[in-house]
Amino acid sequence: MTTLVKNHVFGFETTQQVESVRQLFAKHRFNHPTILKRIEPLSYPEHRSVIAEKLGDAPLDVLIRLFMLQLECQVDDVAAIFEPMHLEEWQDAGVLEVHGDTVKAMVVLYPLYGLIVAIDNYFDGLEREDHVTGFSGTARILANITMRDPVDRLLDVGTGCGIHALFASKHAKEIVATDLNERAIAFAKFNAALNGVTNIDFRVGNLFEPVAGETFDQIVCNPPFVISPQSEYLFRDNGMDGDQFLQTILQGVTEHLNEGGIGQVIGDWVHLKDQSWKERLAQWFEGTDCDSWVIRHQTKTPEAYSKFWCSDKVDVDLNGQEFQNWLSYFSQKNIEAISLGFFTLRKCTSGQNWFRIYDHSEPITGSVGDDIKRRFEGQHYLSQKPVDLELLQAVLMLSPGAKLTKQSKVNNDRWELENVTLRLTQGLAYTCNIDQNIANLLLYFDGKHTVQDAFNAYSLENNIQNQESLQGNLQTIRSFIHFGILIPVVS
Ligand SMILES: C[S@@+](CC[C@H](N)C(=O)[O-])C[C@H]1O[C@@H](n2cnc3c(N)ncnc32)[C@H](O)[C@@H]1O
Repeated sequence: MTTLVKNHVFGFETTQQVESVRQLFAKHRFNHPTILKRIEPLSYPEHRSVIAEKLGDAPLDVLIRLFMLQLECQVDDVAAIFEPMHLEEWQDAGVLEVHGDTVKAMVVLYPLYGLIVAIDNYFDGLEREDHVTGFSGTARILANITMRDPVDRLLDVGTGCGIHALFASKHAKEIVATDLNERAIAFAKFNAALNGVTNIDFRVGNLFEPVAGETFDQIVCNPPFVISPQSEYLFRDNGMDGDQFLQTILQGVTEHLNEGGIGQVIGDWVHLKDQSWKERLAQWFEGTDCDSWVIRHQTKTPEAYSKFWCSDKVDVDLNGQEFQNWLSYFSQKNIEAISLGFFTLRKCTSGQNWFRIYDHSEPITGSVGDDIKRRFEGQHYLSQKPVDLELLQAVLMLSPGAKLTKQSKVNNDRWELENVTLRLTQGLAYTCNIDQNIANLLLYFDGKHTVQDAFNAYSLENNIQNQESLQGNLQTIRSFIHFGILIPVVS
């Protein structure tokens, strides 16, 4: 018999057992759409107790109660559902524990976008240093911004329960997923087996040590980036000062990318008193042979940041010693703010590398990988066209996601245009007020003609004799490329 995912943490002994588990979940329709329908309109896990009240004793309900809500169930009920598997097999695997006539799950198992994923129980607080997290807010953002073009080799650093590697198994031929936490690797292997994913090579180890000397076409990483005075959780704290860990990860990414390879990392960095954070970040990428695009998502004061992270623990006292320790840490290190953002890097050893910063505070709710790719290309394009004369020869297209809203107010019994708002409704959302003339000019960017052609056609149709006033719009056009309103068309 093959030993599949069993190690000292947990897992089934044989491929046959894993197959039986898969069949059991399929039979009882323990999957995302069916469960959503069953618990709607309540959201999981926030409405745990209300969902529990809603459930009956149908097999799917028992599975939801046992694995998702982490509530005790009757042994007889569970045993009947699990047949032909025996409860002992689940106990031996470390997934369930039987106490008298009740049974409790030792891990959370929940459906996630076509997958079933095991993670550590979080309802009773975080008790273990090696706690394996689920699909957190930052994991979701990384999944949403990840580019999904087919690649040969992809690396997921700090894989946790393996979620990014599992998602990537559809677009990457070969994946290496690493984690310092052996427990996380055990969960990730279990999850891969449970979901029938076979193209991931899981390795335990620190940072890039497990892939020394190897390079990849794509690297993704949601590291333990929290800036804290503590070393309590492997998924959160990294033991390095300030944002040094993030910097180390980014450096590692640049060293392990193939030419043209893409690295995407999420993380927090500090704003030091008396130093520009933008200049600091720019220095991180000097000499790395990478084009680098940083999207700043949010910035918090040390107080707000400490409150957010300390409250991860049950019963934290926001006025207590722990919170104060966080604040003193920030004060001692001259940290006046902390930003969360996403880094997209592309290895490019020829020509001058560029570094750009972009602010995007709107929530990222759906997949924006394609948009990130397009926008990265836009930033690259801008870096290649520093001179206005070159920009005049550019072919640009108005983004299909651009929408215009006009707002008018009554003035002397007439509607008077008050403002014109341009919004980007696809990908990374963007909104700005613009001049009506600029709105009209945008209609000439059809993806076929140059900026100069657009100026000529607009001048002709609007009787503009002197095109110099239009040339004044080149800066606006640059900013529209930066914000994704105008997309360069490169033949
Ligand atoms: C924030 S969690 C992210 C987990 C997963 N990638 C996700 O997005 O859900 C960070 C992960 O990095 C791992 N980790 C912590 N220190 C590490 C190190 N020095 N080298 C590699 N992985 C590490 C943790 O064990 C944890 O699984």
